[in-house]
This record gives sequence, C-alpha cells and structure tokens, in this order.
Amino acid sequence: MKRDDCTGLATGGNKARKLELLVADALATGSDVLVTAGGLQSNHARTTAAAAARVGLGCVLAFNSDAPAKTEGNQLLDLILGAERRFVGPLAMDDLNEVVNRIVEELRAANRKPYLIPVGGSSPLGASAYVGAAEEIVADLGHDDVLVITATASGGTHAGLAARLGHGRVLGIDVGAFADAASIVRQLTIDVAVLKGLPIPTGQPHVLRDQVGDGYGAPTAACREAIRLAAQSEGLLLDPVYSGKALAGLINLKPATMEAKAIVFLATGGAPALFTSRYEDWLAEANPRSA
Ligand SMILES: Cc1ncc(COP(=O)(O)O)c(C=O)c1O
Repeated sequence: MKRDDCTGLATGGNKARKLELLVADALATGSDVLVTAGGLQSNHARTTAAAAARVGLGCVLAFNSDAPAKTEGNQLLDLILGAERRFVGPLAMDDLNEVVNRIVEELRAANRKPYLIPVGGSSPLGASAYVGAAEEIVADLGHDDVLVITATASGGTHAGLAARLGHGRVLGIDVGAFADAASIVRQLTIDVAVLKGLPIPTGQPHVLRDQVGDGYGAPTAACREAIRLAAQSEGLLLDPVYSGKALAGLINLKPATMEAKAIVFLATGGAPALFTSRYEDWLAEANPRSA
C-alpha cells in the first residue's frame, strides 16, 4: 500500500503532490489567487484551499452543485481554510473547466492575477507529480515489476504513474467522474511523458468501469465492504467516492489480471467525505454491532 492519504495539507491525499508543482508555478508566474473547481465534496478543491492558505494566495473554488443544506465534510474544511466558495448549480464534470475559465477572466478584469488549476489538478504539470510517486514505488520495491491500483477520476494520478511505469503496470478503477476517463488518461500520459522527457508508453491505459455503480459518488455495497475491510483490518480510512471503490476494484480482480511481482494499492485520501450526512446511514451498516 502506498499511503498518499498521508501527504499532508488539511487531511492529505493525492492532490497534495500535484499542488506542490502547481503552486510553485503559480508563485513563479506572480499569481495572487488560485482558481479551481470540483464536485461538492471535492478533495482537490479542499487541498487547493489548504495550499493557497499555506503560501498566502487567495483561493476561489467553484462547485457543480447548488449551495448545500449543510456545510459538512470537505465543504466545512474549505470554509475553515478561507476559500471563496461558488456554487454554480448541477453541471457535468466535463463542463466545469469552462466555469473555471470564466472565473479566471472575471478576476483578470478586476486586476487580479489568477492561476488556473483544471478540475482535479490534472494539467500535464500537475499529473507529472505522479512520475515522482512512481519513482518512489520503484525505489521502495527495488524493481518495477509492479501493478499499481488507483482510483481514476480526472486521470492525472493514473497518467503520471503510467508515464513512468508504462500502461501495463497501472490499473485505474474509474469512479465515473468523467464520461471517458480512459481517453483522458491516454492523452495526459502522452503530455506528461513529453513534459518529463520520458518515452511515450505503448499500448492503452487500463481503466476498469465495473465499480461506478449508479454514478460518481453513488454508494455501492462493494465500496462499503472495502471501506469496512480497510478500517477494520488496517485502521485505514478509505472514502466512499474514490479509494473505497478502488479497493473494491482490487478485491474484484481475477488473479490472472495481476501478473506482477508486487501489487501496490494507492491510498489516495478522501476521508472528509466520510463525515457527511449523504453517507451516514449507509456507512453505519458497515458495523451492525454498533448500530
Ligand atoms: C481521494 C481521491 N482519490 C483519487 C482521486 C482521483 O485522482 P485523479 O483525479 O488524478 O484521477 C481523487 C481526485 O479526484 C481523489 O480526491
């Protein structure tokens, strides 16, 4: 297991790696406010708010939702971290970057210096942070005969890993955030390889769609079982939207799919979503003894 849930920045997660590079770029280019977007319980938005606070930048976050009835989970953290939150109403994740563009224009017109971070932090630069994570995995193992399993949403994590390890060594469990995650990963892997001067991996990204259930963020029985297993055997908190579904995907894999000396599960964080009313009753069923 690679514990990227422990990266820091207001409960951590995979977005901290991307933001390390993106925020450095924002500072180097003289920006004064970070702008990004995500779902109501976006971990990326929360981590961006934390990163902005850490280096003294402003932060504007857009959410593809109406204002929530309760301020909980990541929304509560966004508020504590001082970000400006904008609720733009229901909108497909694929259309959210357009909203970010509009906010950037608006801020420029008001003489601010916005730094645009796409949904999920998955620009080529942001995604390239996962080349470094792949290097760490290879160094820890002492070889690269590995299969890394990760949740795949905006695709940057998957693409960065694949740019270093090759498509055959990364398996993404699609969580249904975008209509065609595999195409996003395919292009982003090329972009990252070019940016880092690496050979462009051959073959196609491996993305499994069998854990999405009724859609992005929709609870599934397999995800709850994975959350229960990680919590009650490792003391590890997975989340209902990403890492719980990723572990459910790993549990569901046929042994023949796992032809590698080492299987590494990437724990990507996301625990704040556990503390939301949406999942409360559903999660309580993970332990009938304390119901
Ligand atoms: C907890 C968690 N895991 C995994 C992912 C997926 O990462 P990516 O957007 O790079 O595919 C995200 C981001 O949306 C996340 O918040």
